[in-house]
Amino acid sequence: MVLLSVRDDMAMRALGARLAGACLPGAIIYLVGELGAGKSTLARGFLRALGHEGSVRSPTYTLVEPYELPAGQIYHLDLYRLADPEELEFLGLRDWLTDNAILLVEWPQRGAGVLPAADVIVTIAYDGTARHVTVMAVSEKGRQIAVALAE
Ligand SMILES: Nc1ncnc2c1ncn2[C@@H]1O[C@H](COP(=O)(O)OP(=O)(O)OP(=O)(O)O)[C@@H](O)[C@H]1O
Ligand SMILES: [Mg+2]
Repeated sequence: MVLLSVRDDMAMRALGARLAGACLPGAIIYLVGELGAGKSTLARGFLRALGHEGSVRSPTYTLVEPYELPAGQIYHLDLYRLADPEELEFLGLRDWLTDNAILLVEWPQRGAGVLPAADVIVTIAYDGTARHVTVMAVSEKGRQIAVALAE
């Protein structure tokens, strides 16, 4: 487990970029934290680091934003407004899992029971500007990612 203090928005994007550099194909990354914790900010840094040049929209209403990048397919999910975990099937969950895509999932709790287990769980806690981030590996793939992240 990696524990970090992330002092501002820019540092959160930098952490996202570092995580992207350590990430592996097919990795499922849960981003956990309250509204405004910095989950989308981290995702922004992650996507930019892998070559996405446009803006990174928060998938608040679409629930999912797909990105086709040189590093592979990435799906950025925000399940805050998911009414029922079963909806994930209709959104295309099965396809995302077959193309070895990386999944970045905000509000993964809302998909419980249908969303596959995470490899890495990033938890962001805050009071004030600084964020306390823990990166926890919860699978063998996650462990490899955490090791690469710590290097
Ligand atoms: N240390 C920090 N890390 C990340 N964001 C920070 C930090 N300090 C301030 N911020 C600000 O907090 C906000 C975080 O917003 P963000 O959209 O990333 O949150 P979120 O966790 O995705 O929320 P939601 O659950 O609504 O999707 C941004 O406005 C960002 O600039
Ligand atoms: Mg968000």
